[in-house]
Amino acid sequence: MKASQFFVSTLKEAPADAEVTSHQLMMRAGMIKRLGAGIYNYMPMGLRVIRKVEAIIREEMNRAGAVELLMPVVQPAELWQESGRFQAYGPELLRMKDRHDRDFIIQPTSEEVVTDIARQELRSYKQLPRNFYHIQTKFRDERRPRFGVMRGREFTMKDAYSFDRDKDSALKSYQVMFDAYKRIFDRFGLQYRAVAADTGAIGGDASHEFQVIANTGEDAIVYCPTSDFAANIELAEAVALTAQRGAASQALAKTPTPGKSTCADVAALLGVPLVQTVKSLVLATDEKNDAGDIAKTTVWLLLVRGDHDLNEIKAGKLPGLKAGFRFATISEIEDHFGCKPGYLGPIGLKKPVRVVADRTVANMADFVSGANEADFHYTGVNWGRDLPEPDLVADIRNVVAGDPSPDGQGELAIQRGIEVGHVFYLGTKYSKAMSATYLDETGKPQLMEMGCYGIGVTRILGAAIEQNHDARGIIWPAAIAPFAAVICPIGYDRSAEVQAAADQLHDELAAAGVDVLLDNRGERPGAMFADWELIGVPVRVVISDRGLKEGLVELQGRRDAEASKLALAEAVNAVKARLAA
Ligand SMILES: Nc1ncnc2c1ncn2[C@@H]1O[C@H](COP(=O)(O)OP(=O)(O)O)[C@@H](O)[C@H]1O
Ligand SMILES: [Mg+2]
Repeated sequence: MKASQFFVSTLKEAPADAEVTSHQLMMRAGMIKRLGAGIYNYMPMGLRVIRKVEAIIREEMNRAGAVELLMPVVQPAELWQESGRFQAYGPELLRMKDRHDRDFIIQPTSEEVVTDIARQELRSYKQLPRNFYHIQTKFRDERRPRFGVMRGREFTMKDAYSFDRDKDSALKSYQVMFDAYKRIFDRFGLQYRAVAADTGAIGGDASHEFQVIANTGEDAIVYCPTSDFAANIELAEAVALTAQRGAASQALAKTPTPGKSTCADVAALLGVPLVQTVKSLVLATDEKNDAGDIAKTTVWLLLVRGDHDLNEIKAGKLPGLKAGFRFATISEIEDHFGCKPGYLGPIGLKKPVRVVADRTVANMADFVSGANEADFHYTGVNWGRDLPEPDLVADIRNVVAGDPSPDGQGELAIQRGIEVGHVFYLGTKYSKAMSATYLDETGKPQLMEMGCYGIGVTRILGAAIEQNHDARGIIWPAAIAPFAAVICPIGYDRSAEVQAAADQLHDELAAAGVDVLLDNRGERPGAMFADWELIGVPVRVVISDRGLKEGLVELQGRRDAEASKLALAEAVNAVKARLAA
């Protein structure tokens, strides 16, 4: 490919709304162009990357036995009403009407449509297992579209759906996808981790997110460097930090802490370590009667150590909180604790409150907590002696770096990641709602067991750049670079020798299967080099009159500090070797 037949368009400055590096660099490199909030044109340079990402996904999905089809972007609402998601899906689901006033949606995923296909087409156990996938435009009306393609409203996803006769077989299909995902992300050349993730209402333990490691990632990944434990922060189990509760050694004392409403401030004032304090969080649950009115409200006090944070996902799995909870209102708090937030604690409650202690808190002795009186805390608090044992002891906190790994194999570390893929065992959630059955050997209808498997195609571009860039621009892994190599001739239109050598090298590289671009735009060397460093092409070959006099060209990898000289005749092999490395 020659630049004159392509479209190169770079910017010196990124637009002001581009907050993160990948968004800035994609805009500057001419890969995307904003059309509306979270909606982008994929420009020729960006589309080349998307196509390479898709090709790798397609190859590995096909290799894993999945079958490609293509389901519509605009889908009739009926199927979504059947599954209940037409109502249940929040405002992220874009709903609309056609000229006949019929409801439609733009697909955020395709469980309903694929389940409809499966219930019509997969009638016998002999046709299972089956995995259908497509690579298709998605729309989610995200509350905060941001970071360019990373959280778009319109984006491209590969979504696959497996259908099996029973759970065992479904978990095998899940494993096949898990392994295929590893091959896909290996081939992208990205650093990633597969982490265990929360399964929400579905339950079970078959959900993994594929996370590209990047400091700017939105997700916290917990892992153990000395074992293969890896989970996202929502799921990672936090163990009690002391095996047993110590004996009480202090008397209970009400201590003035004027104006100190955070654990850190109280600890500093009292001269005690933060780990001696306990933080109080107040939740509420509502029970509704048949008419849908609130019949009863229960107030909950959740206690975590002063340096720890509540994990709301874990809290939401507790008996009594499972059906949904909210944070208590100020008036509910005053009513039950006789005090405003800031000085709350488990001693001296005005009305009954369900007390849940984190595992670590349950083992604390002589701790500090709010006294349910403005400007006062209790010190020397001891379970059993000063207050009843908690109603419930549970893991309700986020792990922190240095916690013991739940597998007992070392200490946990935390790094940040960007979720680029998700594999999920669905069970019969959709097949049940939509009556997707097959006939077993005895001719009896059985519900199909399902799994769903997504990869954020366009998000991969952002994630790859967050992980691979420097001050000059993007550094693409060779497998997904818009071009694997660029030839930069100096004086292409002035020197017949340079032009001939550049054309020949271009043709030879192309013949050798290298995705090469010859920059024949006639730019000055500085501007030309800056463009390709910004765009992030992995290998550059510079051809100049001066070099050719000695039969030499210059080769520079995008991460190399400087170029190396080599004979023109060796350039093809050298470029290939660089790309293979
Ligand atoms: N708004 C978005 N913009 C770009 N990619 C997205 C967006 N939402 C989801 N994706 C990608 O699609 C994949 C599958 O989506 P899913 O797991 O259903 O999303 P979520 O985790 O947001 O519920 C995600 O792993 C992510 O890579
Ligand atoms: Mg997900």
